[in-house]
Amino acid sequence: MLNVLVTGGAGYIGSHVCVALLEAGHQVTVVDNLCNSSARSMDAVQSVTGRTLNFTQMDIRDTTGLVSVMQARSVDVVIHLAGLKAVGESVQSPLAYYSNNVGGTLSLLHAMEATGARRLIFSSSATVYGVPDFLPYTETHPTRPSSPYGHSKLHAERMLRDLCHSSGDWSIVALRYFNPVGAHASAELGEDPRGTPNNLMPFIAQVAAGLRDRLTIFGDDYATRDGTCVRDYLHVMDLASGHLEALSYSATAAGFHAFNLGTGQGTSVRELLAAFEATNRVRVPHEIGPRRAGDIDAFWADPARAVIHLGWKPRHDLADMCESTWRWQLAHPRGFQ
Ligand code: NAD
Ligand code: UFG
Repeated sequence: MLNVLVTGGAGYIGSHVCVALLEAGHQVTVVDNLCNSSARSMDAVQSVTGRTLNFTQMDIRDTTGLVSVMQARSVDVVIHLAGLKAVGESVQSPLAYYSNNVGGTLSLLHAMEATGARRLIFSSSATVYGVPDFLPYTETHPTRPSSPYGHSKLHAERMLRDLCHSSGDWSIVALRYFNPVGAHASAELGEDPRGTPNNLMPFIAQVAAGLRDRLTIFGDDYATRDGTCVRDYLHVMDLASGHLEALSYSATAAGFHAFNLGTGQGTSVRELLAAFEATNRVRVPHEIGPRRAGDIDAFWADPARAVIHLGWKPRHDLADMCESTWRWQLAHPRGFQ
């Protein structure tokens, strides 16, 4: 049993990670400033697991506050998900992204240094790779992000690498997520975007539910099999289990290690739409619109390193992703509100 601090644990991915941690018997402490989430997700986590966690509303840039929470809870390991994640917004407000994602990570590392915690699992992103030289992306693919968001993730990874070079005490795993979708099987937890969803799956679900008129497919003239962009969608519970495996790995592997978490399967926008309609027997009205600035034609993961070294295996298929999204959407049309 570990005492795990989860930063950003009230968010979409973090709340599913908390479920996996509690179900594995760990003690969980969440720090989140709720800038993009609701504390009700914490109630849902406790209700679906039948276990309690400790929640503190706090900004991770408050280093002193973090130190006191970590000392009070005897934190051994940190899973660091807190951050901002909207690519377009990062172009408009780059300083907010560097402050939260780089400054926040720096503050957390100071707190870890002060309290003696030396194991960290970090939420990185496939966006660190940028325009592909080859596909699927391996972890050795060059890193050339194309947005302030992507740069902020890469800067954070750089700090983590440098820290591991400075001392052999640190054990840090960066998980480069591809496109997490889906919801917990209970339909009590899921993605709860504020305002208009930026991402494809929650947008599809809201159109299917009649909350929005139609989906706009951002471009059908890409160099892909059906002209729409291809991504590597993975179930959020498979992503959550990857954190448990990374925790085990970090117990014995000193230094910095990066792993892709994706299924290795590329799915186009049209294919995801068709899968959602077929699985859930619903219609999703849609139209073709212009390309969205900055979108890459296609990318997907080579997950071999995570499969071999972490023992990670995604278990859910595209139908599970669509079905769980839809059940969450129907059960909670207004998310956690
Ligand atoms: P989310 O917005 O649902 O969760 C992030 C959480 O962090 C939120 O609860 C937010 O309130 C909190 N937070 C933000 N800044 C904070 C701060 N300064 N102090 C304390 N709390 C703060 O997003 P998510 O989809 O769950 O993403 C979690 C992590 O995974 C992020 O770091 C994101 O960059 C990364 N990631 C997400 C995706 C994706 O598609 N969802 C893909 C790749 C990587
Ligand atoms: N799309 C549409 N219409 C929409 C929304 C999206 O056609 O209304 C298309 C996009 O153009 C793209 C695809 O659906 O081709 C997927 O878009 P998402 O916004 O869902 O996902 P992205 O791949 O653009 O980015 C996501 C996260 C990033 C993360 C990246 C990692 O938003 O933070 O995955 O793979 F870095």
